[in-house]
Amino acid sequence: MVSDPGIIAAGWLEQMLPFVEQENLQYAIWTGVTPNPKDHEVEAGTAFYHTQRCDSLIALGGGSCIDAAKGIAVLSTNGGHIRDYEGIDKIIRPLPPMVAVPTTGGTGADVSQFAVITDTARRIKMTLISKSLIPDISITDPLLLTTKDAWLTASTGMDALTHGIESYVSLAATFLTEVHSLRAIELACAGLRPSVASRDDLAAKDTMARSSLHAGMAFSNAVLGATHAMAHQVGGMLDQPHGELNAILLPYVMEYNLAVCPERYAAIAGAMGIDIRGLTQIEAGHAAIAAVRSLTSDIGLTRRLSDLGVNETMIPTLSENAMRDACMATNPRSATVEEVVRLFYTAM
Ligand SMILES: [Fe+2]
Repeated sequence: MVSDPGIIAAGWLEQMLPFVEQENLQYAIWTGVTPNPKDHEVEAGTAFYHTQRCDSLIALGGGSCIDAAKGIAVLSTNGGHIRDYEGIDKIIRPLPPMVAVPTTGGTGADVSQFAVITDTARRIKMTLISKSLIPDISITDPLLLTTKDAWLTASTGMDALTHGIESYVSLAATFLTEVHSLRAIELACAGLRPSVASRDDLAAKDTMARSSLHAGMAFSNAVLGATHAMAHQVGGMLDQPHGELNAILLPYVMEYNLAVCPERYAAIAGAMGIDIRGLTQIEAGHAAIAAVRSLTSDIGLTRRLSDLGVNETMIPTLSENAMRDACMATNPRSATVEEVVRLFYTAM
């Protein structure tokens, strides 16, 4: 079982154990994972997995716990270093059975074919992509969202919204993923404010749990875009929170992309509940961007990249790393490194 101290303190692991014991399953609990899971944590978890003679994985936690469990699954049967599996379809041997129980209402890692692990030597985030990384069972339970604080609710919720928007405008979007993307956007816009306002608003938690699930279904197949490519690399260099980085970068990337797919952004505005009658597609797109900005500030995410430790000397390296990120390939507007540099500057 992969979890973290916060989840244990909230009592969720304790609640899960009777169900496992009921099935006469033996278990070992590993909690050595931090936000933005690191390569050495995955190695330590794999050593624990082997010494405890494990044969399957249950991840109970946010995207970090789930991605760490995926990394352990990869190394447990394929060996080597997690870096060997960066990129698309590098995993050769089958993985052990995996169950994912998400607790943040934003990650989508519980249904996605992605795992994002920090390479601490290169200070970048590596994206592993493989159908074998999709957990065998994903359990979505909105009750699990009732113990996290307002800031975590806001930042992980903005991750779900970013997944919906980026997967919808992705070059790899299809008619099947579009349905999930738009529903994820609609639900996030309806549920995020009340979910941040109250821990006990179960209807809002349910809405956000569904938004996260729809968004995960969408981006697992349609991939993401420049917001994630850039956010990953700030996270890899400075170990800052993924959802909040997305929230900061998203409106600037939307402004950059708007000209190449205004009809997509107009549809996003419609899904957000904006009355787009009488507006041109570009005007509707701008209304969507304004709505993202007001949602972000309403839920208390007001920091900028400079507040999170980014300084101008880092921008060239961050931009080059973002250009190599797997998510950049599906951004609807093909960006040059100079344009990515400019985008980073605007979000400072
Ligand atoms: Fe994300």
